[in-house]
Amino acid sequence: MKSVVYVSTVRHPFDSVDLEQLVEEAARRNAEDGITGLLAYNGESFMQLLEGQEEAVEERLDVIRGDSRHECMVIIRKQAIEKRECEAWSMTARTVPLREEGSAAKLFRDWPETFSNETRMLFTSFSSMLQPQMA
Ligand SMILES: Cc1cc2nc3c(=O)[nH]c(=O)nc-3n(C[C@H](O)[C@H](O)[C@H](O)COP(=O)(O)O)c2cc1C
Repeated sequence: MKSVVYVSTVRHPFDSVDLEQLVEEAARRNAEDGITGLLAYNGESFMQLLEGQEEAVEERLDVIRGDSRHECMVIIRKQAIEKRECEAWSMTARTVPLREEGSAAKLFRDWPETFSNETRMLFTSFSSMLQPQMA
């Protein structure tokens, strides 16, 4: 199996309904394809974890990369795995407020124990992004 984490930049900000719709459809398709994962959104960027059979993940990743709702996809980690990190989630979304202290804690309230330390670190970093202080 394969696990991929990427970040991308949203083209037009999503509201909670947009995000809900995206994830509902994604979860339905992912369930058919045996893909599981997590999508975090902070108002400007996405970080997504996708895991499943290599072919299914690569194919879906190509489709997602071409989705005009976001751009500048950067793969942060791609690795072979033996076990899934979030077996229970066909896709679930977490919105974290950008530029707010304590965002990471919000994201991890119901974090599965199966998430590796590295994955936690990646999503913690993402959700801790703060606006640089203006001089
Ligand atoms: C940030 C982001 C994450 C997405 N994640 C998924 C996903 O996990 N699974 C999925 O099927 N579609 C996901 N999509 C939607 C796909 O880009 C695409 O619209 C969808 O797979 C339908 O493609 P198809 O009609 O060619 O099968 C995502 C889109 C965006 C913008």
